[in-house]
Amino acid sequence: MSLLILSPTRETDTWLQALQEEDPKIPIFVYPENIDNESVEFVLAWNHPYGSLKNYPNLKCISSMGAGVDYLLKDPELPEQVLLTRIVDPELSKTMFEFILAMVMNHLRGLTHFKQSQANQKWEPAAYQRIEDIRIGIMGLGVIGSYVAKRLIGMGFRVNGWAQSPKPNCKATVYSGSNELETFLNSTEILICLLPSTPSTHGLLNKETLAMLPKGASLINVARGDILVERDLIDLLDNEQLSLASLDVFQQEPLPNNHPFWKHKKIDITPHVASLTNPKTVAPQIVENYWRMKKGQELMHSVSRKKGY
Ligand code: GLV
Repeated sequence: MSLLILSPTRETDTWLQALQEEDPKIPIFVYPENIDNESVEFVLAWNHPYGSLKNYPNLKCISSMGAGVDYLLKDPELPEQVLLTRIVDPELSKTMFEFILAMVMNHLRGLTHFKQSQANQKWEPAAYQRIEDIRIGIMGLGVIGSYVAKRLIGMGFRVNGWAQSPKPNCKATVYSGSNELETFLNSTEILICLLPSTPSTHGLLNKETLAMLPKGASLINVARGDILVERDLIDLLDNEQLSLASLDVFQQEPLPNNHPFWKHKKIDITPHVASLTNPKTVAPQIVENYWRMKKGQELMHSVSRKKGY
């Protein structure tokens, strides 16, 4: 019985090495090597080819290689009885906070503007904002969102949060549900999206909701591309309702060559690198779940198919 690493888009050698070092007793294979499909009980997946998971008749658990599981749940042929788990790792929250801090400071200090001035060889000083001037709003207060809120508050930022349901333990002022969304957005100058991609968040950032932000607000999307209506963002930047967007995720990845985002002056693009799972730090939880699965015990970080995270 074995564990299969199934990701055509990620580099898999470091995963294999980290898992083998953590537990040399687990037989591990890497897709697409030729194996006995019946032996596979546990799959570690990222961007698997849709339909491929039904080829393993004895599959009991699929672990996402990252925090998100949206790509798994979108597979129309996802085997029904199989348990789903995801990665929860303090390292993932910490590196996400560090990336967001860099983006927020870019927005405050106008670094995108200066980069463009440099390209035009223009000396163009501009006013800047300080940490205490700005109101940050975080959408999505799960493990990562709550951690980012706590760290930003610790640095002196004023932080509000919004989630589908109340979060009594979150350090930020929390707004919840659709009836508090407008109040939350009205008082957000930098909006950080950390929501999971689910049917209820799909297209949630659109011309109506984004126009609820104060004029000149900016957006940082480090969650999933399908939460944002891309055309609406361009319109709001062009009519100066919004001033800047830092986007790490897109409806289609890699971002197609002819996409209007590439050349937009008010959009900063990074290629889905805000926070990447470190195979070394997560190997222990995957190995632990493998053995729990073998013993029929409850798994860590299990995913609700109904909630979508
Ligand atoms: C990255 O996008 C993740 O879900 O971990």
